[in-house]
Amino acid sequence: MVVDNMGLDHVAIKVRDIEQTIEFYTDVMNMAVSDRIGDTVAFLRTPAVSEQADHHEMNITQYSDEELDVLEQRGELELDLHEFEEDLPEGGPPMLPTTGPIYHIAFEVPNYQSIRDAADELEARNHPIYRGPGRHGPGNNIFLYFPDPDGYPIELTAKMEEAPEDGGRPARQWPQSPDTWNVWRNAEDL
Ligand SMILES: [Fe+2]
Repeated sequence: MVVDNMGLDHVAIKVRDIEQTIEFYTDVMNMAVSDRIGDTVAFLRTPAVSEQADHHEMNITQYSDEELDVLEQRGELELDLHEFEEDLPEGGPPMLPTTGPIYHIAFEVPNYQSIRDAADELEARNHPIYRGPGRHGPGNNIFLYFPDPDGYPIELTAKMEEAPEDGGRPARQWPQSPDTWNVWRNAEDL
């Protein structure tokens, strides 16, 4: 191996309007700006679910003017995120509305109540919710998906199955089915 010990540290995404994105991640997600570079790059940190927050878990960079032109040609400069809410395929994780390759970015929250409260608040703000609350089969984690201003689906997740340091159980093979993605799919409203 090349690396024998590590964890996932931060994600970096490109966005259409950095000020709009900063407003979303600070106002909706309670994140804070740690640093900025010029007027097109910002570093954001989470509100310290862990005991001590690192400098950043996210790095956002505004697309260059040339890249924005390409998005405009594709008709992706302006997005109506509510449209995608209606067009999501049955079952499976939510798709990024644009042609970008990132499926979703997940943030851990303490428990189910945090996810339920977030869903209620998003509804009060008329912010689209793509999926959830639900519970994934693999990982057994509770989830809620909703888009950021660029359409990147944000996942709030809680109570993921822990993996023991030594050994652990063998990997399972799950069926390709909506019930795999959400074991609560047929549950009564929670
Ligand atoms: Fe996920």
